[in-house]
Amino acid sequence: MAMGMTFINLFLILLFFLRHSVSVSGNTDSPYHHHHRSLVEDKAALLAFKKSVLVDPKSTLADWEDDVHVCNFTGVICSQQHHRVTQIDLSSSGLVAKMSPSLSNLTALRRLNLDENQFFGTIPPEISSLRHLQILALYDNNFTGPLSPSIFSNCSELKVIDLSLNYIRGRIPEEIGNCPGLWALSLYNNQFTGQLPAHLTNTTMHSLDVGYNQLSGELPSDLVSKLPHLKYLYLSYNNMRSHGNNTDLGSFFATLRNCTGLMELELAGMELGGRLLRSIAHPNLTILELQENHIFGHIPPEIVEFSLLLKLESLFLSRNLFNIRIPSTLGKLPHLSLLDLSNNRFNGEIPASLGDLMDIRSLLLNNNLLSGTIPPELFRCSNLYMLDLSYNKLSGRIPPEIIEIREIRGFINLSNNFLEGPFPIELSKLENVAEIDFSSNNLSGNIFPQISSCITLKMINFSHNSLEGQLPESLGDLKNLESFDISNNNIAGNVPTSLSKINLRFLNLSFNNFEGKIPSGGIFDSATYMSFLGNPRLCGSKSSRLSCPQKKHWFRSRTFWVIYVLVVVVFAPLSAVFCVIGFLRLRS
Ligand SMILES: *[C@@H]1O[C@H](CO)[C@@H](O)[C@H](O)[C@H]1NC(C)=O
Ligand SMILES: *[C@@H]1O[C@H](CO)[C@@H](O)[C@H](O)[C@H]1NC(C)=O
Ligand SMILES: *[C@@H]1O[C@H](CO)[C@@H](O)[C@H](O)[C@H]1NC(C)=O
Ligand SMILES: *[C@@H]1O[C@H](CO)[C@@H](O)[C@H](O)[C@H]1NC(C)=O
Ligand SMILES: *[C@@H]1O[C@H](CO)[C@@H](O)[C@H](O)[C@H]1NC(C)=O
Ligand SMILES: *[C@@H]1O[C@H](CO)[C@@H](O)[C@H](O)[C@H]1NC(C)=O
Ligand SMILES: *[C@@H]1O[C@H](CO)[C@@H](O)[C@H](O)[C@H]1NC(C)=O
Ligand SMILES: *[C@@H]1O[C@H](CO)[C@@H](O)[C@H](O)[C@H]1NC(C)=O
Ligand SMILES: *[C@@H]1O[C@H](CO)[C@@H](O)[C@H](O)[C@H]1NC(C)=O
Ligand SMILES: *[C@@H]1O[C@H](CO)[C@@H](O)[C@H](O)[C@H]1NC(C)=O
Ligand SMILES: *[C@@H]1O[C@H](CO)[C@@H](O)[C@H](O)[C@H]1NC(C)=O
Ligand SMILES: *[C@@H]1O[C@H](CO)[C@@H](O)[C@H](O)[C@H]1NC(C)=O
Repeated sequence: MAMGMTFINLFLILLFFLRHSVSVSGNTDSPYHHHHRSLVEDKAALLAFKKSVLVDPKSTLADWEDDVHVCNFTGVICSQQHHRVTQIDLSSSGLVAKMSPSLSNLTALRRLNLDENQFFGTIPPEISSLRHLQILALYDNNFTGPLSPSIFSNCSELKVIDLSLNYIRGRIPEEIGNCPGLWALSLYNNQFTGQLPAHLTNTTMHSLDVGYNQLSGELPSDLVSKLPHLKYLYLSYNNMRSHGNNTDLGSFFATLRNCTGLMELELAGMELGGRLLRSIAHPNLTILELQENHIFGHIPPEIVEFSLLLKLESLFLSRNLFNIRIPSTLGKLPHLSLLDLSNNRFNGEIPASLGDLMDIRSLLLNNNLLSGTIPPELFRCSNLYMLDLSYNKLSGRIPPEIIEIREIRGFINLSNNFLEGPFPIELSKLENVAEIDFSSNNLSGNIFPQISSCITLKMINFSHNSLEGQLPESLGDLKNLESFDISNNNIAGNVPTSLSKINLRFLNLSFNNFEGKIPSGGIFDSATYMSFLGNPRLCGSKSSRLSCPQKKHWFRSRTFWVIYVLVVVVFAPLSAVFCVIGFLRLRS
């Protein structure tokens, strides 16, 4: 069978060269005339296509005119000898149209790219006449309706189909198996239903992306076992199930082992049930996305085999039902740069071995049941960009070793744990960090003035802790600070006026012991009283509606006048009376 196919290909290629050589060498009228006529037909087809366009906001087709050579039309490329139109690229032109069937007359077309326009209606089945088409790119349009099976009746040269981001419904036609050379099929973000057609095994699929559809059925084991060239497989956000009535994930991974070149696998968001077994180990896998499923388990001994995932760079296991300790073997994945275990029930301590992940950039362990202290070794991950340990049960102090991630540029989120003690002064060395969230812990001590060294900080949330002392004026040196939440602490003293000089957009000083007058200018002119709640000795600021009783001049206060009146009206006459009485007594 394979032999036959090769011969047919050879035959076609020979035929192609034959026709070309005739046209190149041919000074005789008839072949030249033949090609010339084809070009005329191509032009007619393109002009008919132009007529069907309702909106052309960028005037892309302005030079598609009778008096312009068709090979000079914007977005049109002809063969080298200018005999036929071979490529159309009208991507990102904002065109609104029903795709005209006249395109089917461009029978030498190899590449049709209408990506990122607003073509609507069904894809005309007539394009099956484009028997030399190699690339069909209709990504991000408004195509609807089912795919006509006849589209795939002449697709022997088709290599790439991209229909992603449209509104196409129905099944994926099994006739797609007619395209033996198809190596990339991208249908993500449509409304395809049914199962992946088994006929896909007739193709030489390298990249299959059908994510974000409504495909159902078991994970396609039979299919993938017959697609040995598969490198990219994206099935996320469909309605598929794992084997054994959604209990067995291992079988699918076992068949995948035949795809030795598999590099990226995405099976997210399908409520897949089962456990991770040793079959997950795959030598060439770089990205594994299994988030938002129902995968559960204790520590299977096989998890050690994670260390066989030697090329793994990204591991997404968030939003599953893992209820084990984080295996310390994860620290042995030499190229791991993203580890997302968030929103599970991982318990026990954070393994110190995670500090061996020298390439890790995003470490997301938030929303689990992790306890114990933060292992200082974790900060050996000096390439960290995002560190999220929030919503766990971590206790103890923030290790001073935090200085080792001084290059961190994204965020550190340690919020909603049981951390205590003062901030390590080493924090001030993180000069590139954009966001720090230490809220809802039991951190104590002062906010040291050196915090102003973290010059790129945009967001600070220290709320709901036991911080005390005064806020340093140096906070005003944080020129990039946009959001500052220090609510629910025991901070005392005056509000630093320097905060009025920076571009703060959010401020919350509520429930502390601030005193004195709220400064004016900047954020203080726009913040409402909601930013200053629960500070009984704080006053001022028009917008905050907190009047300043203590700060009024003493002679203007009502108490003063009450005392004054009392003194003048009651005590003065009274003392006068006593004086007189005393004087009279003295005299007598
Ligand atoms: C295409 O346009 C260029 C200049 O705009 C011109 O020199 C060339 O002759 C045109 N080609 C054809 C085939 O008309
Ligand atoms: C293709 O071209 C032929 C001849 O020029 C024309 O009759 C026919 O209508 C065209 N087909 C389409 C679909 O436009
Ligand atoms: C396949 O292409 C040929 C030539 O372009 C055409 O005559 C034929 O009708 C096409 N087949 C289908 C089913 O469209
Ligand atoms: C295409 O879809 C987008 C998004 O749904 C919509 O805003 C736009 O109006 C549609 N365009 C046409 C021509 O249907
Ligand atoms: C796929 O290949 C099988 C055998 O290799 C063949 O019988 C079948 O017709 C091919 N085409 C489709 C669409 O399945
Ligand atoms: C599959 O599992 C569901 C829920 O666990 C159960 O209701 C159903 O009966 C099972 N089906 C079979 C065929 O075992
Ligand atoms: C892997 O491929 C071999 C040879 O093609 C085959 O015998 C075996 O059954 C395949 N394994 C799986 C799990 O499909
Ligand atoms: C997969 O990895 C193995 C072992 O690292 C290697 O020998 C093989 O060539 C790789 N396969 C592909 C298709 O990259
Ligand atoms: C942790 O803080 C960062 C930065 O503010 C934020 O982007 C992230 O969503 C937070 N994590 C959680 C679980 O809220
Ligand atoms: C700061 O953290 C607290 C508690 O974790 C949260 O309620 C509040 O919304 C956060 N503030 C900002 C500005 O995000
Ligand atoms: C918070 O820390 C203080 C000491 O700084 C301690 O007295 C208090 O009990 C702690 N609160 C909680 C809820 O752990
Ligand atoms: C500040 O925090 C307090 C207490 O958490 C909250 O009630 C108030 O709404 C917050 N103010 C603003 C402006 O968000």
